[in-house]
Amino acid sequence: TASKTSEDHDYDFVVVSNRLPVDRVTAPDGTPGWTRSPGGLVTALEPVMREKDGAWVGWAGQPDVALDPFDNEGIRIVPVPLTVEEIANYYEGFSNDTLWPLYHDVIAAPSYHREWWESYVAVNQRFADATAAISAQGATVWVQDYQLQLVPKMLREQRPDLTIGFFNHIPFPPYGIYSQLPWRAQIIEGLLGADVIGFQRVADASNFSRAVRRLTTNVTRNPVIEVVTEGQATRRVIAKAFPISIDASSYEELARQPHIQARAQEIREGLGNPKTIMLGVDRLDYTKGIGHRLKAFGELLTEGRVSVEDVTLVQVASPSRERVKAYMDLRDEIELTVGRINGDFATMSHTAISYHHHGYPRDEMVALYLAADVMLVTALRDGMNLVAKEYCAARFDNDGVLIISEFAGASDELKRALRINPHDIDGLKESILQAIQMPKQERATRMRSLRKRVLEYDVSRWSSTFLTTLAQSRAAQDDYADS
Ligand code: G6P
Repeated sequence: TASKTSEDHDYDFVVVSNRLPVDRVTAPDGTPGWTRSPGGLVTALEPVMREKDGAWVGWAGQPDVALDPFDNEGIRIVPVPLTVEEIANYYEGFSNDTLWPLYHDVIAAPSYHREWWESYVAVNQRFADATAAISAQGATVWVQDYQLQLVPKMLREQRPDLTIGFFNHIPFPPYGIYSQLPWRAQIIEGLLGADVIGFQRVADASNFSRAVRRLTTNVTRNPVIEVVTEGQATRRVIAKAFPISIDASSYEELARQPHIQARAQEIREGLGNPKTIMLGVDRLDYTKGIGHRLKAFGELLTEGRVSVEDVTLVQVASPSRERVKAYMDLRDEIELTVGRINGDFATMSHTAISYHHHGYPRDEMVALYLAADVMLVTALRDGMNLVAKEYCAARFDNDGVLIISEFAGASDELKRALRINPHDIDGLKESILQAIQMPKQERATRMRSLRKRVLEYDVSRWSSTFLTTLAQSRAAQDDYADS
Protein backbone atom coordinates (compact mmCIF):
# COMPACT_ATOMS: atom_id res chain seq x y z
CA THR A 1 0.00 0.00 0.00
CA ALA A 2 1.00 3.62 -0.47
CA SER A 3 1.81 4.17 3.17
CA LYS A 4 4.32 1.32 3.36
CA THR A 5 7.77 2.58 4.32
CA SER A 6 11.08 0.82 4.81
CA GLU A 7 10.93 0.58 8.60
CA ASP A 8 7.32 -0.47 8.37
CA HIS A 9 7.18 -4.20 7.78
CA ASP A 10 7.01 -7.51 9.44
CA TYR A 11 4.94 -7.12 12.54
CA ASP A 12 4.31 -10.36 14.44
CA PHE A 13 1.27 -8.98 16.22
CA VAL A 14 -1.23 -6.70 14.52
CA VAL A 15 -4.47 -5.25 15.86
CA VAL A 16 -6.98 -4.00 13.31
CA SER A 17 -9.90 -1.79 14.31
CA ASN A 18 -11.96 0.90 12.62
CA ARG A 19 -10.59 3.55 14.95
CA LEU A 20 -7.02 4.04 15.97
CA PRO A 21 -6.47 4.69 19.70
CA VAL A 22 -5.92 8.33 18.82
CA ASP A 23 -8.14 10.63 16.76
CA ARG A 24 -6.67 13.32 14.58
CA VAL A 25 -8.17 16.71 15.39
CA THR A 26 -7.72 20.11 13.84
CA ALA A 27 -7.57 23.15 16.12
CA PRO A 28 -9.54 26.27 15.10
CA ASP A 29 -6.29 27.82 13.81
CA GLY A 30 -5.72 24.80 11.56
CA THR A 31 -2.95 23.06 13.54
CA PRO A 32 -3.37 19.30 13.62
CA GLY A 33 -3.22 17.37 16.88
CA TRP A 34 -4.37 14.08 18.41
CA THR A 35 -6.87 13.17 21.12
CA ARG A 36 -7.85 9.86 22.66
CA SER A 37 -10.55 8.02 20.71
CA PRO A 38 -13.97 7.43 22.28
CA GLY A 39 -15.54 4.16 23.35
CA GLY A 40 -14.91 0.91 25.09
CA LEU A 41 -12.83 -0.76 22.38
CA VAL A 42 -9.94 1.67 22.69
CA THR A 43 -10.20 1.74 26.50
CA ALA A 44 -9.73 -2.03 26.56
CA LEU A 45 -7.12 -2.50 23.85
CA GLU A 46 -4.77 0.36 24.59
CA PRO A 47 -3.17 -1.26 27.66
CA VAL A 48 -2.87 -4.57 25.78
CA MET A 49 -1.02 -2.88 22.92
CA ARG A 50 1.37 -1.07 25.26
CA GLU A 51 2.55 -4.46 26.51
CA LYS A 52 3.18 -5.84 23.04
CA ASP A 53 5.50 -4.75 20.31
CA GLY A 54 2.84 -4.78 17.66
CA ALA A 55 1.19 -2.51 15.14
CA TRP A 56 -2.31 -1.02 15.25
CA VAL A 57 -4.07 -0.58 11.90
CA GLY A 58 -7.04 1.82 11.82
CA TRP A 59 -8.65 5.05 10.71
CA ALA A 60 -7.51 8.40 12.14
CA GLY A 61 -11.07 9.77 12.44
CA GLN A 62 -10.85 12.47 9.74
CA PRO A 63 -11.62 12.31 6.00
CA ASP A 64 -8.91 11.96 3.37
CA VAL A 65 -5.86 12.04 5.60
CA ALA A 66 -3.07 9.89 4.22
CA LEU A 67 -0.51 9.60 6.99
CA ASP A 68 2.65 7.58 7.23
CA PRO A 69 2.88 5.07 10.06
CA PHE A 70 4.26 6.54 13.30
CA ASP A 71 4.78 5.78 16.98
CA ASN A 72 2.42 7.16 19.59
CA GLU A 73 3.25 6.60 23.24
CA GLY A 74 4.82 3.24 22.54
CA ILE A 75 2.25 2.03 20.02
CA ARG A 76 3.00 1.70 16.32
CA ILE A 77 0.17 3.38 14.44
CA VAL A 78 -0.69 2.45 10.83
CA PRO A 79 -3.39 4.79 9.48
CA VAL A 80 -5.89 3.65 6.83
CA PRO A 81 -7.48 6.59 4.95
CA LEU A 82 -11.24 6.96 4.38
CA THR A 83 -12.81 9.39 1.92
CA VAL A 84 -15.72 11.70 2.80
CA GLU A 85 -18.01 9.36 0.89
CA GLU A 86 -16.71 6.27 2.68
CA ILE A 87 -17.25 7.94 6.04
CA ALA A 88 -20.86 8.57 5.02
CA ASN A 89 -21.47 5.10 3.54
CA TYR A 90 -19.22 2.65 5.36
CA TYR A 91 -18.92 4.32 8.79
CA GLU A 92 -22.02 6.44 9.43
CA GLY A 93 -24.15 4.36 7.08
CA PHE A 94 -23.53 0.62 7.14
CA SER A 95 -21.61 0.43 10.43
CA ASN A 96 -23.67 2.84 12.50
CA ASP A 97 -27.07 3.01 10.84
CA THR A 98 -27.37 -0.63 9.69
CA LEU A 99 -25.26 -2.94 11.86
CA TRP A 100 -25.28 -0.95 15.11
CA PRO A 101 -29.10 -0.77 15.49
CA LEU A 102 -29.55 -4.31 14.09
CA TYR A 103 -27.07 -5.81 16.55
CA HIS A 104 -28.62 -3.86 19.44
CA ASP A 105 -32.05 -5.47 19.17
CA VAL A 106 -33.40 -2.91 16.67
CA ILE A 107 -33.88 -0.29 19.44
CA ALA A 108 -33.67 2.12 16.49
CA ALA A 109 -34.71 1.00 13.02
CA PRO A 110 -31.79 -0.19 10.86
CA SER A 111 -31.55 1.19 7.30
CA TYR A 112 -30.55 -1.11 4.47
CA HIS A 113 -28.87 0.50 1.47
CA ARG A 114 -26.94 -1.32 -1.22
CA GLU A 115 -24.49 1.57 -1.73
CA TRP A 116 -23.62 1.39 1.98
CA TRP A 117 -22.94 -2.32 1.71
CA GLU A 118 -20.70 -1.80 -1.33
CA SER A 119 -18.71 0.78 0.56
CA TYR A 120 -18.45 -1.58 3.57
CA VAL A 121 -16.99 -4.28 1.31
CA ALA A 122 -14.52 -1.86 -0.30
CA VAL A 123 -13.33 -0.43 3.01
CA ASN A 124 -13.01 -3.88 4.62
CA GLN A 125 -10.85 -4.86 1.64
CA ARG A 126 -8.63 -1.81 2.19
CA PHE A 127 -8.14 -2.73 5.86
CA ALA A 128 -7.35 -6.33 4.87
CA ASP A 129 -4.80 -5.17 2.25
CA ALA A 130 -3.12 -2.75 4.65
CA THR A 131 -2.87 -5.51 7.26
CA ALA A 132 -1.56 -8.10 4.80
CA ALA A 133 1.15 -5.65 3.76
CA ILE A 134 2.65 -5.18 7.24
CA SER A 135 2.17 -8.63 8.79
CA ALA A 136 5.19 -10.90 9.13
CA GLN A 137 5.05 -14.50 7.90
CA GLY A 138 2.98 -16.50 10.40
CA ALA A 139 1.96 -13.36 12.34
CA THR A 140 -1.05 -13.12 14.64
CA VAL A 141 -3.69 -10.61 13.55
CA TRP A 142 -6.50 -9.58 15.82
CA VAL A 143 -9.43 -7.93 14.04
CA GLN A 144 -11.89 -5.91 16.16
CA ASP A 145 -15.61 -5.26 16.01
CA TYR A 146 -18.62 -4.96 13.73
CA GLN A 147 -17.11 -2.43 11.33
CA LEU A 148 -14.64 -5.05 10.03
CA GLN A 149 -16.49 -8.36 9.89
CA LEU A 150 -15.36 -9.17 6.35
CA VAL A 151 -11.67 -8.67 7.10
CA PRO A 152 -10.96 -12.20 8.48
CA LYS A 153 -12.00 -13.90 5.24
CA MET A 154 -10.35 -11.27 3.01
CA LEU A 155 -7.14 -11.60 4.97
CA ARG A 156 -7.12 -15.39 4.91
CA GLU A 157 -7.53 -15.38 1.13
CA GLN A 158 -4.35 -13.33 0.74
CA ARG A 159 -2.39 -14.64 3.69
CA PRO A 160 -3.27 -18.22 4.69
CA ASP A 161 -0.12 -18.21 6.85
CA LEU A 162 -1.64 -15.76 9.36
CA THR A 163 -3.35 -16.71 12.59
CA ILE A 164 -6.50 -14.61 12.66
CA GLY A 165 -8.61 -13.71 15.68
CA PHE A 166 -11.78 -11.64 15.67
CA PHE A 167 -13.49 -10.02 18.64
CA ASN A 168 -16.98 -8.53 18.50
CA HIS A 169 -17.30 -5.76 21.11
CA ILE A 170 -21.05 -5.39 20.67
CA PRO A 171 -23.86 -7.95 21.02
CA PHE A 172 -24.57 -10.53 18.33
CA PRO A 173 -28.36 -10.55 17.85
CA PRO A 174 -30.78 -13.48 17.92
CA TYR A 175 -31.33 -15.06 14.50
CA GLY A 176 -34.87 -13.67 14.18
CA ILE A 177 -33.37 -10.19 14.16
CA TYR A 178 -30.08 -10.95 12.42
CA SER A 179 -31.91 -12.55 9.51
CA GLN A 180 -33.25 -9.15 8.43
CA LEU A 181 -29.82 -8.31 7.05
CA PRO A 182 -29.79 -8.66 3.25
CA TRP A 183 -26.08 -9.58 3.45
CA ARG A 184 -26.43 -11.97 6.38
CA ALA A 185 -24.63 -14.87 4.70
CA GLN A 186 -21.68 -12.77 3.50
CA ILE A 187 -21.06 -11.45 7.02
CA ILE A 188 -21.07 -14.95 8.49
CA GLU A 189 -18.65 -16.10 5.78
CA GLY A 190 -16.45 -13.09 6.48
CA LEU A 191 -16.23 -13.88 10.19
CA LEU A 192 -15.58 -17.58 9.56
CA GLY A 193 -12.28 -16.57 8.01
CA ALA A 194 -10.99 -16.22 11.59
CA ASP A 195 -9.53 -19.05 13.70
CA VAL A 196 -11.20 -17.78 16.87
CA ILE A 197 -14.29 -15.54 17.02
CA GLY A 198 -14.80 -13.95 20.42
CA PHE A 199 -17.99 -12.51 21.85
CA GLN A 200 -18.85 -10.65 25.06
CA ARG A 201 -21.55 -13.00 26.39
CA VAL A 202 -22.33 -16.68 26.11
CA ALA A 203 -25.66 -15.64 24.56
CA ASP A 204 -23.87 -13.74 21.77
CA ALA A 205 -21.75 -16.78 20.91
CA SER A 206 -24.83 -19.02 20.77
CA ASN A 207 -26.72 -16.50 18.62
CA PHE A 208 -23.76 -16.59 16.24
CA SER A 209 -23.61 -20.40 16.16
CA ARG A 210 -27.30 -20.52 15.38
CA ALA A 211 -26.82 -18.08 12.48
CA VAL A 212 -24.00 -20.32 11.19
CA ARG A 213 -26.34 -23.34 11.31
CA ARG A 214 -29.15 -21.52 9.57
CA LEU A 215 -27.06 -19.90 6.85
CA THR A 216 -24.29 -22.39 6.07
CA THR A 217 -23.84 -26.15 5.81
CA ASN A 218 -21.00 -26.12 8.37
CA VAL A 219 -21.26 -28.34 11.41
CA THR A 220 -21.33 -26.63 14.84
CA ARG A 221 -20.31 -28.50 17.98
CA ASN A 222 -19.98 -25.65 20.47
CA PRO A 223 -17.56 -24.00 20.71
CA VAL A 224 -16.16 -25.54 17.49
CA ILE A 225 -17.43 -24.89 13.99
CA GLU A 226 -16.16 -27.16 11.24
CA VAL A 227 -15.87 -25.05 8.12
CA VAL A 228 -16.03 -27.02 4.92
CA THR A 229 -14.79 -25.24 1.80
CA GLU A 230 -14.84 -27.10 -1.49
CA GLY A 231 -11.43 -28.34 -2.55
CA GLN A 232 -9.85 -27.43 0.80
CA ALA A 233 -9.17 -29.19 4.07
CA THR A 234 -11.84 -28.70 6.72
CA ARG A 235 -10.93 -25.87 9.11
CA ARG A 236 -11.92 -25.57 12.73
CA VAL A 237 -13.13 -22.24 14.02
CA ILE A 238 -13.79 -21.58 17.70
CA ALA A 239 -16.69 -19.24 18.60
CA LYS A 240 -17.05 -18.46 22.29
CA ALA A 241 -17.43 -15.82 24.96
CA PHE A 242 -14.45 -13.82 26.27
CA PRO A 243 -15.94 -11.00 28.37
CA ILE A 244 -13.79 -7.89 27.97
CA SER A 245 -12.56 -5.80 30.86
CA ILE A 246 -10.48 -2.80 31.89
CA ASP A 247 -7.05 -2.09 33.27
CA ALA A 248 -8.63 -2.23 36.74
CA SER A 249 -5.60 -1.54 38.92
CA SER A 250 -4.81 1.66 37.03
CA TYR A 251 -8.26 3.01 37.99
CA GLU A 252 -7.67 2.09 41.60
CA GLU A 253 -4.25 3.75 41.54
CA LEU A 254 -5.74 6.95 40.21
CA ALA A 255 -8.52 6.86 42.77
CA ARG A 256 -5.97 6.55 45.57
CA GLN A 257 -4.23 9.77 44.58
CA PRO A 258 -4.90 12.61 47.04
CA HIS A 259 -5.48 15.23 44.33
CA ILE A 260 -8.19 13.07 42.76
CA GLN A 261 -9.89 12.56 46.11
CA ALA A 262 -9.69 16.32 46.67
CA ARG A 263 -11.28 16.80 43.26
CA ALA A 264 -14.09 14.39 44.18
CA GLN A 265 -14.75 16.47 47.30
CA GLU A 266 -14.75 19.64 45.22
CA ILE A 267 -17.29 18.11 42.81
CA ARG A 268 -19.61 17.30 45.73
CA GLU A 269 -19.32 20.80 47.09
CA GLY A 270 -19.88 22.30 43.67
CA LEU A 271 -23.18 20.45 43.49
CA GLY A 272 -24.28 21.91 46.83
CA ASN A 273 -23.32 18.90 48.96
CA PRO A 274 -26.42 16.80 48.32
CA LYS A 275 -26.80 13.66 50.45
CA THR A 276 -26.74 11.50 47.34
CA ILE A 277 -25.02 12.01 44.03
CA MET A 278 -26.15 9.67 41.27
CA LEU A 279 -24.04 9.35 38.14
CA GLY A 280 -24.56 8.26 34.55
CA VAL A 281 -21.64 8.14 32.08
CA ASP A 282 -22.35 7.17 28.50
CA ARG A 283 -21.68 7.99 24.91
CA LEU A 284 -24.84 9.78 23.85
CA ASP A 285 -26.32 6.66 22.26
CA TYR A 286 -29.90 5.35 22.11
CA THR A 287 -28.74 1.96 23.37
CA LYS A 288 -27.76 3.40 26.74
CA GLY A 289 -31.28 3.96 28.12
CA ILE A 290 -30.51 7.53 29.21
CA GLY A 291 -34.13 8.55 28.63
CA HIS A 292 -35.40 5.68 30.82
CA ARG A 293 -33.09 6.79 33.63
CA LEU A 294 -34.27 10.41 33.34
CA LYS A 295 -37.88 9.30 33.33
CA ALA A 296 -37.43 7.30 36.54
CA PHE A 297 -35.64 10.18 38.29
CA GLY A 298 -38.22 12.71 37.03
CA GLU A 299 -41.07 10.62 38.41
CA LEU A 300 -39.36 10.24 41.79
CA LEU A 301 -39.05 14.04 41.96
CA THR A 302 -42.66 14.59 40.84
CA GLU A 303 -43.93 12.17 43.46
CA GLY A 304 -41.84 13.88 46.15
CA ARG A 305 -40.05 10.61 46.93
CA VAL A 306 -36.72 12.38 46.41
CA SER A 307 -35.89 16.09 46.48
CA VAL A 308 -33.25 18.13 44.66
CA GLU A 309 -31.74 19.21 48.00
CA ASP A 310 -30.98 15.56 48.76
CA VAL A 311 -30.33 13.96 45.38
CA THR A 312 -28.53 15.22 42.28
CA LEU A 313 -28.06 13.27 39.07
CA VAL A 314 -24.87 13.97 37.16
CA GLN A 315 -25.17 12.84 33.55
CA VAL A 316 -22.08 12.81 31.37
CA ALA A 317 -23.16 12.21 27.77
CA SER A 318 -20.16 12.26 25.47
CA PRO A 319 -20.82 13.35 21.89
CA SER A 320 -21.05 10.45 19.45
CA ARG A 321 -21.80 9.87 15.73
CA GLU A 322 -23.29 13.33 15.50
CA ARG A 323 -24.06 13.19 11.78
CA VAL A 324 -26.30 10.12 12.08
CA LYS A 325 -29.98 11.13 12.29
CA ALA A 326 -30.93 8.78 15.13
CA TYR A 327 -28.19 10.39 17.26
CA MET A 328 -29.32 13.94 16.44
CA ASP A 329 -32.88 13.01 17.39
CA LEU A 330 -31.71 11.37 20.60
CA ARG A 331 -29.75 14.45 21.60
CA ASP A 332 -32.78 16.68 21.10
CA GLU A 333 -34.96 14.32 23.09
CA ILE A 334 -32.52 13.98 26.01
CA GLU A 335 -31.77 17.68 26.20
CA LEU A 336 -35.47 18.55 26.11
CA THR A 337 -36.10 16.14 28.98
CA VAL A 338 -33.16 17.44 31.03
CA GLY A 339 -34.35 21.02 30.46
CA ARG A 340 -37.90 20.16 31.54
CA ILE A 341 -36.86 18.33 34.69
CA ASN A 342 -34.46 21.10 35.69
CA GLY A 343 -37.05 23.74 34.86
CA ASP A 344 -39.62 22.02 37.05
CA PHE A 345 -37.44 21.08 40.02
CA ALA A 346 -34.16 22.99 40.25
CA THR A 347 -33.84 25.64 42.96
CA MET A 348 -31.43 28.59 43.03
CA SER A 349 -28.98 26.44 44.99
CA HIS A 350 -29.64 22.91 43.73
CA THR A 351 -29.96 21.49 40.26
CA ALA A 352 -31.79 18.25 39.55
CA ILE A 353 -29.62 17.07 36.68
CA SER A 354 -26.11 18.30 36.06
CA TYR A 355 -25.81 17.52 32.35
CA HIS A 356 -22.50 17.50 30.45
CA HIS A 357 -22.27 16.99 26.72
CA HIS A 358 -18.50 16.36 26.65
CA GLY A 359 -15.98 13.66 27.18
CA TYR A 360 -13.68 14.10 30.19
CA PRO A 361 -10.12 12.98 30.82
CA ARG A 362 -9.65 9.87 32.90
CA ASP A 363 -8.60 11.78 36.06
CA GLU A 364 -11.86 13.70 36.09
CA MET A 365 -13.86 10.53 35.45
CA VAL A 366 -12.26 8.79 38.40
CA ALA A 367 -12.98 11.82 40.63
CA LEU A 368 -16.60 11.61 39.49
CA TYR A 369 -16.75 7.89 40.29
CA LEU A 370 -15.47 8.64 43.79
CA ALA A 371 -17.99 11.44 44.21
CA ALA A 372 -20.92 9.28 43.07
CA ASP A 373 -22.92 7.38 45.70
CA VAL A 374 -24.97 5.60 43.05
CA MET A 375 -23.85 4.64 39.54
CA LEU A 376 -26.64 4.18 36.99
CA VAL A 377 -26.08 1.83 34.06
CA THR A 378 -29.49 1.45 32.41
CA ALA A 379 -28.57 0.27 28.91
CA LEU A 380 -31.34 -1.25 26.79
CA ARG A 381 -28.64 -3.35 25.15
CA ASP A 382 -24.87 -3.12 25.58
CA GLY A 383 -22.05 -5.49 24.59
CA MET A 384 -20.29 -5.13 27.95
CA ASN A 385 -20.38 -1.60 29.46
CA LEU A 386 -16.93 -0.83 30.78
CA VAL A 387 -18.14 2.19 32.75
CA ALA A 388 -19.73 -0.23 35.24
CA LYS A 389 -16.36 -1.93 35.71
CA GLU A 390 -14.50 1.39 35.95
CA TYR A 391 -16.80 2.51 38.75
CA CYS A 392 -16.10 -0.64 40.78
CA ALA A 393 -12.36 -0.47 40.11
CA ALA A 394 -12.21 3.12 41.36
CA ARG A 395 -14.10 2.40 44.61
CA PHE A 396 -11.17 1.19 46.73
CA ASP A 397 -13.13 2.60 49.70
CA ASN A 398 -15.66 -0.26 49.19
CA ASP A 399 -18.47 2.23 48.98
CA GLY A 400 -20.96 3.24 46.30
CA VAL A 401 -23.88 1.31 44.79
CA LEU A 402 -23.94 0.05 41.21
CA ILE A 403 -27.29 -0.25 39.49
CA ILE A 404 -26.94 -2.27 36.30
CA SER A 405 -29.25 -3.30 33.51
CA GLU A 406 -29.57 -7.00 32.83
CA PHE A 407 -29.22 -6.08 29.14
CA ALA A 408 -25.59 -4.99 29.61
CA GLY A 409 -23.00 -7.75 29.21
CA ALA A 410 -21.32 -6.69 32.47
CA SER A 411 -24.38 -7.86 34.43
CA ASP A 412 -23.32 -11.50 33.81
CA GLU A 413 -20.26 -10.92 35.98
CA LEU A 414 -21.29 -8.15 38.38
CA LYS A 415 -23.67 -10.29 40.38
CA ARG A 416 -23.82 -8.21 43.56
CA ALA A 417 -24.94 -5.05 41.76
CA LEU A 418 -28.62 -4.03 41.89
CA ARG A 419 -29.92 -5.61 38.71
CA ILE A 420 -32.68 -3.81 36.84
CA ASN A 421 -34.83 -4.03 33.73
CA PRO A 422 -34.69 -0.46 32.37
CA HIS A 423 -38.04 -0.89 30.61
CA ASP A 424 -39.67 -1.44 34.00
CA ILE A 425 -39.73 2.16 35.19
CA ASP A 426 -41.38 1.30 38.53
CA GLY A 427 -38.77 -1.37 39.19
CA LEU A 428 -36.02 1.09 38.29
CA LYS A 429 -37.45 3.68 40.68
CA GLU A 430 -37.57 1.13 43.50
CA SER A 431 -33.96 0.17 42.86
CA ILE A 432 -32.89 3.82 42.88
CA LEU A 433 -34.59 4.29 46.26
CA GLN A 434 -33.05 1.08 47.54
CA ALA A 435 -29.61 2.31 46.45
CA ILE A 436 -30.10 5.71 48.09
CA GLN A 437 -31.21 4.10 51.35
CA MET A 438 -28.82 1.16 51.40
CA PRO A 439 -26.99 0.80 54.76
CA LYS A 440 -23.24 1.31 54.66
CA GLN A 441 -22.56 -2.28 55.71
CA GLU A 442 -24.50 -3.70 52.77
CA ARG A 443 -22.87 -1.26 50.34
CA ALA A 444 -19.47 -2.44 51.51
CA THR A 445 -20.29 -6.15 51.22
CA ARG A 446 -21.61 -5.73 47.73
CA MET A 447 -18.81 -3.47 46.51
CA ARG A 448 -16.15 -5.79 47.89
CA SER A 449 -17.55 -8.65 45.85
CA LEU A 450 -17.88 -6.50 42.70
CA ARG A 451 -14.32 -5.26 43.05
CA LYS A 452 -12.97 -8.75 43.51
CA ARG A 453 -14.41 -9.78 40.18
CA VAL A 454 -13.27 -6.66 38.30
CA LEU A 455 -9.73 -6.68 39.69
CA GLU A 456 -9.28 -10.39 39.09
CA TYR A 457 -10.76 -10.54 35.58
CA ASP A 458 -9.00 -7.50 34.17
CA VAL A 459 -8.18 -6.66 30.58
CA SER A 460 -4.79 -8.33 30.55
CA ARG A 461 -6.48 -11.56 31.60
CA TRP A 462 -9.03 -11.06 28.83
CA SER A 463 -6.44 -10.58 26.12
CA SER A 464 -4.19 -13.38 27.34
CA THR A 465 -7.15 -15.79 27.50
CA PHE A 466 -8.19 -14.87 23.98
CA LEU A 467 -4.67 -14.97 22.55
CA THR A 468 -3.88 -18.28 24.24
CA THR A 469 -7.02 -19.81 22.75
CA LEU A 470 -6.00 -18.37 19.39
CA ALA A 471 -2.47 -19.80 19.56
CA GLN A 472 -3.78 -23.21 20.66
CA SER A 473 -6.44 -23.26 17.97
CA ARG A 474 -3.79 -22.65 15.35
CA ALA A 475 -1.58 -25.42 16.72
CA ALA A 476 -4.55 -27.81 16.83
CA GLN A 477 -5.49 -26.75 13.31
CA ASP A 478 -2.09 -27.66 11.98
CA ASP A 479 -2.32 -31.10 13.67
CA TYR A 480 -5.84 -31.53 12.34
CA ALA A 481 -4.81 -30.64 8.79
CA ASP A 482 -1.88 -33.08 8.97
CA SER A 483 -4.00 -35.98 10.16
C1 G6P B 1 -18.29 1.18 20.81
C2 G6P B 1 -17.85 0.28 19.67
C3 G6P B 1 -16.49 0.72 19.14
C4 G6P B 1 -16.52 2.19 18.79
C5 G6P B 1 -16.98 3.02 19.98
C6 G6P B 1 -17.09 4.52 19.68
O1 G6P B 1 -17.43 1.01 21.91
O2 G6P B 1 -17.82 -1.07 20.08
O3 G6P B 1 -16.15 -0.04 18.00
O4 G6P B 1 -15.26 2.62 18.37
O5 G6P B 1 -18.24 2.55 20.40
O6 G6P B 1 -17.88 4.74 18.55
P1 G6P B 1 -17.29 5.44 17.26
O7 G6P B 1 -18.35 5.29 16.22
O8 G6P B 1 -17.07 6.87 17.67
O9 G6P B 1 -16.01 4.77 16.89
